Amino acid sequence: MQRSRWYKDAFIYQIYPRSFCDSNGDGIGDIRGIISKLDYLQELGVNAVWLSPCYKSPNDDNGYDISNYRDIMDEFGTLEDWEEMVDGMHKRGIKLIMDLVVNHSSDEHFWFQEALKGKDNPYRDYYIWRKGRGKNGKRPPNNWTSRFGGSAWEYHEDSGEYYLHLFTKKQPDLNWDNPKVRQEVHDIVKYWLDKGCDGFRCDVITYISKKEGLPNGKLNVALLGDEHFTHGPNIHAYLHALNKEVLSKYDCMTVGEGPGMNVKHAIDYTSEEREELDTVFTFEHMHTDAFFQFLPRKLKLSRLKKVLAAYQYGLRDKGWNSLYWENHDQPRSIPRFTGDFGDKRKEAAKMLAVALYMQQGTPYVYQGQEIGMMNYPWKSIDEFQDVMVKNLMGIFNKYAPFLKKVAFWALKKKGRDNARTPMQWNDKENAGFTTGTPWLPINPNYKEINVEQAMKDKNSIFHFYKKLIAFRRGNPLIIHGTFKENYASSNDIYCYERWYKGERLMVICNFKNKEIPFKLPSDCVYKSADLVLHNYDYDRKLEDMTLRPYEALVFKMI
Ligand code: NOJ
Repeated sequence: MQRSRWYKDAFIYQIYPRSFCDSNGDGIGDIRGIISKLDYLQELGVNAVWLSPCYKSPNDDNGYDISNYRDIMDEFGTLEDWEEMVDGMHKRGIKLIMDLVVNHSSDEHFWFQEALKGKDNPYRDYYIWRKGRGKNGKRPPNNWTSRFGGSAWEYHEDSGEYYLHLFTKKQPDLNWDNPKVRQEVHDIVKYWLDKGCDGFRCDVITYISKKEGLPNGKLNVALLGDEHFTHGPNIHAYLHALNKEVLSKYDCMTVGEGPGMNVKHAIDYTSEEREELDTVFTFEHMHTDAFFQFLPRKLKLSRLKKVLAAYQYGLRDKGWNSLYWENHDQPRSIPRFTGDFGDKRKEAAKMLAVALYMQQGTPYVYQGQEIGMMNYPWKSIDEFQDVMVKNLMGIFNKYAPFLKKVAFWALKKKGRDNARTPMQWNDKENAGFTTGTPWLPINPNYKEINVEQAMKDKNSIFHFYKKLIAFRRGNPLIIHGTFKENYASSNDIYCYERWYKGERLMVICNFKNKEIPFKLPSDCVYKSADLVLHNYDYDRKLEDMTLRPYEALVFKMI
């Protein structure tokens, strides 16, 4: 089938269903809640939704632990609700990307329950089992660590073997080297595509192929074993087969979550000739404000720009990029990338949108980002619900209680629950998210920051996003144009151009909450330059100027 590659002109909205909108007062968002907000999504102008997992799950990791891949989580509704939601989306020109979590399943999945029954069970080999090391086999099979702390192996008393879990022990890793597992995944993907879903976001897809023999990982300060299961030996063959046998038969898209990816890997996974994934989420820009990925450090703009530009230049004509500042695993982007914004929250948020979304790639906006939602003001470490935090705290309490203070400081800035507090719809009780008790507290700033208020205010972040999305969608200059960065070493501004068939965009973003002088690049010659996007409400000409705090300007030149 000839694929239209519609994702190149998509603007995708990520919904974390648990926190989006609760229709039945149990404090947990659900599918009927999503249905009630489809007009809102249409108004914003997005043309696709990535829905974080909504499958049956015991919710050890909020749905990223699936116990039935073909049914809907009880808290979220029914398959009929799902069908109504997809219909409602399609009627509004919105496609649906489901989350595909197949590096691991839940330990409550039928396959794992069978596998526990013994070494001869036909499902045993759906997972990765090994004998322990040492005299009595009481040491885990290797030194790999779980992404959520501790050993990546759990001992199973009855069979005397360990199983691998790169996340919690309730998320056993599937054995992709077993052709039956790969066939199961193909069937699941086909099942949802046939039901009308338009693509998949593939969870930690870089982890699915493990090195033969599962050797010990090199010692380092953070996670052990990465080098043996990230971009493992068969990953490209497995993804190619999934593409050839299933995905290529539908006009769908895939975006792979790619921990451990650099530009070269991103090309390997997304080059059209290789027929694997369509696009990937990389993390290098998310690590520019951290040591070892999670210890916060002050952001240096030139460091961030170096990564952004490397992907713009590197993937050009070779692969396809994704553009994101936020998702359910990341803290909110203001002030993370804009520093101390004072009374300029709106300007800062709009500037961030311009800086990111005028680049090449498929843009994603995470629920609440379009109204400038912020990190939650955590008062104590016990308020976090994230299983990752709970696991790590268990370890700290046992081995290094003195590190708790540092951990809390880091979590306030970086914790995943920051982005998971409920969506703020209005200034009424519980921000209009639920009539019950919300599963995670509502950010107290909901009286000022909420959808209703943003829709009323013509200068809101919401209306700016709407304008930006309308400007971007269907615009070949942004979809296909080449990229050229100016002033790469500046720690104040991100300035780049896009060129396409005689047209040119000049994007100028001041990342600082202060005035910054701007000089027109010396090769900037043009017949006319129109200001097409601006986060201040006065006119500007393309010339040497003093940029206002967080000022963002986009000129279209001929
Ligand atoms: C990445 C997901 O985005 C995250 O939320 C989850 O905890 C892990 N993968 C494990 O599935």
